[in-house]
Amino acid sequence: MDQQGEKQKMTFDEIFYWLRENDSKKLEVLWQKADAVRQDRVGDAVYLRGLIETSNICRRNCLYCGIRAGNQQPERYRLSFAELLDTARLAKKLNYGTIVIQSGEDWGIDAEDIANVIRQIKKNTELTITLSLGERSEADYRLWLEAGANRYLLRFETSNLQLFNAIHPPFNRDFGSRLEILQLLREIGYEVGSGVMAGIPGQSWADLARDIRSFAELDLDMIGCGPFLPHPQTPLGQLFEIDSKTGLSKPGPLTPKQKQFCEQCKIPILASDEQVTVDENLPFKVIALSRLVCPSANIPSTTAVATLDPDRGRLLGLSRGANVIMPNLTPMKYRKMYEIYPNKAASFELPEETHAEAVRQITELGRIVGQGAGTSPQFVNRRSKTS
Ligand code: 5AD
Repeated sequence: MDQQGEKQKMTFDEIFYWLRENDSKKLEVLWQKADAVRQDRVGDAVYLRGLIETSNICRRNCLYCGIRAGNQQPERYRLSFAELLDTARLAKKLNYGTIVIQSGEDWGIDAEDIANVIRQIKKNTELTITLSLGERSEADYRLWLEAGANRYLLRFETSNLQLFNAIHPPFNRDFGSRLEILQLLREIGYEVGSGVMAGIPGQSWADLARDIRSFAELDLDMIGCGPFLPHPQTPLGQLFEIDSKTGLSKPGPLTPKQKQFCEQCKIPILASDEQVTVDENLPFKVIALSRLVCPSANIPSTTAVATLDPDRGRLLGLSRGANVIMPNLTPMKYRKMYEIYPNKAASFELPEETHAEAVRQITELGRIVGQGAGTSPQFVNRRSKTS
């Protein structure tokens, strides 16, 4: 069965059904299906991507994100050229094939400086480079690709435009919608990744089913998703009170205060059974369904999933459809400052420890550590068709 045929097998109704299923016996079927497709399409290798959080400076004011411009609390940092290059060298030393350079939307980093650092990293390490630097101009994306970048990650967060606009206040530079940007990145030659948060206030189960279906329509090479985790220094985190035991927002009908806020910000107001609620199964449902709609994509068991369940989250993600993990290589002194959501998993582990633990977990699962770039078969197939 080709990729296209397989993708069309999952209908909106099926996705919706699985999202709403909570019987753990029945969910076993979903986990097993996703694991079988994972093994068949991308094999037993688990690829490690070294994550470098290069700057927490951000011009945007997204209502959910801990490094939003309006949050005065985190001390702001930006890695120097030498720190970034040294971290890339460390990745090489630890035998990573790929690094992911991520930051807030930091307009203080000149596009040409980023291009220079990409060239130096390529020259010194030959690592595959993934960028995740937010919305930028076509000229910048082209410049970085020519300098040697290979992949770009930009989550569209939700396909519900009303909700997207409500939680991403307008900004004076407009590069078009994220879906348009993803299309552009694809056209100019990047391997492209995207994804959503699951459980954003105002996100309905039908929205999330549409999000997942759109992964197939967008023909993504990489799909990274995670649960929405309320951050107390953000408008959404303050409003949606956190259950101290689970770290999640409490389910149930909106309080008058929440309702008023949603009305003001134009966040859709939903009945409590329509609202996506984050529970222990939700992140895995999203991973498993992503695998079923995009069988040959690279799919990480993300840090947000591990944050929700520090003991087993990452492993469960890998056995329910994921084939990638992204250990954090950011220099230790900056870790605490890149708090997009609270209690980020493994924030204080040294890169060597994080790496050893990742290898241990992969071995425990009977899987193997992927070697080299680990380009998604999806991208390779598309390339071979167009060339
Ligand atoms: N909870 C969960 N995920 C978040 N992100 C940002 N803030 C939060 C939060 N509070 C995610 C967004 C972004 C990615 C880098 O981190 O999806 O694209």
